[in-house]
Parts: sequence; C-alpha cells; structure tokens
Amino acid sequence: MNDLQTSDESKRAAGSAAADLVEDGMRLGLGTGSTVRWFLEALAARRLDVAGVPTSEDTADRCRALGIELLDPASVVHLDLAVDGADEFDAELTATKGGGGALLREKVVASMAERFVLIATPDKAVDRLGDTYPLPIEVVPFALGLVMHTLRERGVHPTERRLPDGSPYRTDNGNTIVDAHYPAGIEDPALTEVSLSLIPGVVANGLFVELATLAVLGHADGHVEHRVPALTNDPS
Ligand code: A5P
Repeated sequence: MNDLQTSDESKRAAGSAAADLVEDGMRLGLGTGSTVRWFLEALAARRLDVAGVPTSEDTADRCRALGIELLDPASVVHLDLAVDGADEFDAELTATKGGGGALLREKVVASMAERFVLIATPDKAVDRLGDTYPLPIEVVPFALGLVMHTLRERGVHPTERRLPDGSPYRTDNGNTIVDAHYPAGIEDPALTEVSLSLIPGVVANGLFVELATLAVLGHADGHVEHRVPALTNDPS
C-alpha cells in the first residue's frame, strides 16, 4: 500500500475540507506532511485555476505529479491562503512544526499568506506546546556545537536529528535539525521563538506564533471541526 492508502480517515477529512476553502485564481502556500498529501489530492481533483509555492521538495514533486502549478518562491511576497499540518497546536493556534524537516520554508510561506490554515487531527491539540513533541530547530551545520551547548545552558535537552542509518539528517536547505525537548513544556512560545532566533547559526525554529487563523480538524468518523484562535486578552 502507498502512503495515502495507509493514512487514516481523519487526515483525509481535514485535507479535503481545506481544499474546499480554495477559490479559483488563488495563489497558495502548499505545506508538507502526511495530512497535506490529502489536501493536495483533493485540490488537484477540483481542477481549479490556482498556483502555489511548495514548502518542500517532496511537496513540489507531488504537485508536479498531480498537475498543480508551482510558483517561484523567490518572486512571491503575498499568498491568498496557505495550508499546512502541525506537530502540536494550542488554544491560540500557536503551533510547533518541523517533524518532517520543512519548517524553514513552511514558516516563510506561512508568513506570506493572508490566511494560514492548519490541518490536523484532534490529538495534535495540547494545553502546553512541547508536552508531547520536541521542538525542531533548523541549524547551519557549522554552528551545531554552539547551538546544542546554548540550549543545554537554558535547561533544554537537544538531540541532533539523524537518519535511520545514523548519518546526519539534512533539510532541503542543506542544514541540520536539532530536536529540542523542553522538560516542562514551552512556557512562553512568543518569547521562546525570539530567543531561539538570536542564537547564531539558528536559521529557523518550529514555533509558529500568531500565524494560523483557522484549524481544520478531521475526526476518525470523517466529520470536520473548525477552531479559531482563543481570545488571549479576555476583556471580562
Ligand atoms: C513538516 O516539516 C511538518 O511541519 C509537518 O507539517 C508536520 O510535521 C505535520 O505533519 P503530518 O501531517 O504528517 O502529521
């Protein structure tokens, strides 16, 4: 069986519902991952006049095979809608991403988009980010030692991502990934995102703060739930 046949109904439901948000003429951000694959299938089936920026070589290959037109990322500054998966997300729809290693391009694309929609299964919802999944950080290989050391000094447990054969993992950009385990979870995602970006050699971290405007969650029975960011400043 291929990947799509082994994926579950909940991912298919989320991907298909997100494809229904797309309108003719839109310029899209095309995420990466097993949920996005369902989105791409459903999008291609609608045969709309759209084009998109892919967030990985894997997604670009899939788009070519499905006949989805691609845009040159370097010539794009604005997208109407970007759709992508998540490793975790909280009530504000702040997300961690990068389990598939595509976080840098995913963050660039999300930042270009007027609307950034997460597609996921409900089990990705957490009270505190970092509770169930380490935070991926993309690092220039030259700076790996410094970044690991700095994270340890901050009480974080970093692991260099490796391939099954033990060789270092490389992103589409030629960088390495450090998976950072926060023992008590990530208390302040916005502050953590900024402080990580200040470590020399870090090119991106997997915290997506105040980017998602909607989460489309697919359930195992095929029904779909929409969530918007919770109010962070409750006036009452
Ligand atoms: C890719 O680097 C990731 O950010 C994915 O978007 C994320 O890991 C979700 O992937 P799945 O849809 O496969 O769970």
